[in-house]
Amino acid sequence: MSEKTVQIVDPASSAKAELPVVTGTLGDPAIDIGKLNRETGYYTFDPGFMATASTRSSVTFIDGDKGVLLYRGYPIEQLAKHSSFLEVAYLLIKGELPKPAEFSAFEHQITHHTMMHESLKNFLHGFHHDAHPMAMLCASIASLSAFYHDTLDLSDPEQRQLAAIRLIAKMPTIAAAAYRYSIGWPVRYPRNNLEYVTRFLHMMYEVPSEPLDLNPVAAKALDLLFILHADHEQNASTSTVRLVGSTGANPYACVAAGIAALWGPAHGGANEAVLKMLEEIGDAKHVGRAVERAKDKESGFRLMGFGHRVYKNFDPRATIIRDMCHKVLADLHVNDPLLDVAMELEEAALKDDYFVERKLYPNVDFYSGIIYKALKIPTDMFTVMFAIARTAGWVAHWLEQHTDADTRIGRPRQIYCGPVERDYVDRARR
Ligand code: CMC
Repeated sequence: MSEKTVQIVDPASSAKAELPVVTGTLGDPAIDIGKLNRETGYYTFDPGFMATASTRSSVTFIDGDKGVLLYRGYPIEQLAKHSSFLEVAYLLIKGELPKPAEFSAFEHQITHHTMMHESLKNFLHGFHHDAHPMAMLCASIASLSAFYHDTLDLSDPEQRQLAAIRLIAKMPTIAAAAYRYSIGWPVRYPRNNLEYVTRFLHMMYEVPSEPLDLNPVAAKALDLLFILHADHEQNASTSTVRLVGSTGANPYACVAAGIAALWGPAHGGANEAVLKMLEEIGDAKHVGRAVERAKDKESGFRLMGFGHRVYKNFDPRATIIRDMCHKVLADLHVNDPLLDVAMELEEAALKDDYFVERKLYPNVDFYSGIIYKALKIPTDMFTVMFAIARTAGWVAHWLEQHTDADTRIGRPRQIYCGPVERDYVDRARR
């Protein structure tokens, strides 16, 4: 904490508070308002947390004006180029890149926690066949606490680490099982001789009757998408995980809550919504109409995959994904007309004053759906893909929260706008 303070004075009552300024290693400073109400009688009002830092964190840093994203200090561009999802997961959780022996031990641990309890299959079978896979994932992850209730002592760092490993390891197994259940295929068990992403693709697509001929381009592309989605500081789902975590709830319940928050179209559900929007637009020649609709507030339509709370310049993940999109489609010999629609839409929006003035740029979800589609991942699984990757970030934040001396139950205040106190009236006399 710096020595600096900020003085808040209410001229009407002369109440004042000398509030400490909190600084980190990067980014804007914040005013610690912990004693504001006690000393002045005021709360702060900040719907949507536009200007509120909810915690100190050392996991991820974003500079939204410069388009910078760092995981534990490492630029996303370097990690995308040189690292793998599992290494990034290690980095997020432990804070440093692993040495070779540390990585092998971590990979071994993850690989040997990928199985799901057989009873979980019965649980999935309770769903109607056309249930959305996010519903199945959310419920199944919450149910894990019922399977591991004997290792839920949150005061034990080893049990916390074990929960983190289990969540990263089992998420792809459960996600693939949910998908296979929805299409009526038998669940495939995880194969330990494969690495994380390839194992997941095998669980998704391998049929009992023949071996899977998996294109390595697909595994590489998915691994890269997972790296780009692995964490994003205090986004809505991570903040949800932390809020639920602040009550002392178990990690499976916390991550299930994060999955629920991710599902919304303003957050991770945007990738599914983008593809539906591009399909609806259908042809590059209809892009102008879509842009006009997005500008019309009455229409209730927004350009999905556009805009971001923090990035007011480009989203660095979107830049990587756009380049990757062209490469993956070329390597897989896929000619998807939706890519032309997306490029035309991006160009039209970036030239339009409405989007320029509001600093609305394509975000991570804008091109990711076209890649998922090229990898033959069904549209309703797109947000599930995001959830698999973001699990690394969720558990990193949950672990961090449990070693932070400042962690207290998250409990915001409100500005009450309802009726003032009044007397109950007997029903017959209302
Ligand atoms: N299309 C049209 N107008 C938009 C859009 C959009 N995609 N995004 C924001 N605006 C307008 C909005 O109407 C408002 O206009 P005005 O100032 O005239 O009222 C202005 O831009 C500011 O928007 P906001 O809703 O106040 O901004 P926010 O920071 O609260 O919301 C957002 C951020 C990402 C929810 C929003 O931009 C959005 O709804 N985008 C589409 C959904 C999307 O792509 N979400 C994925 C986000 S990135 C990945 C992730 O988080 O999972």
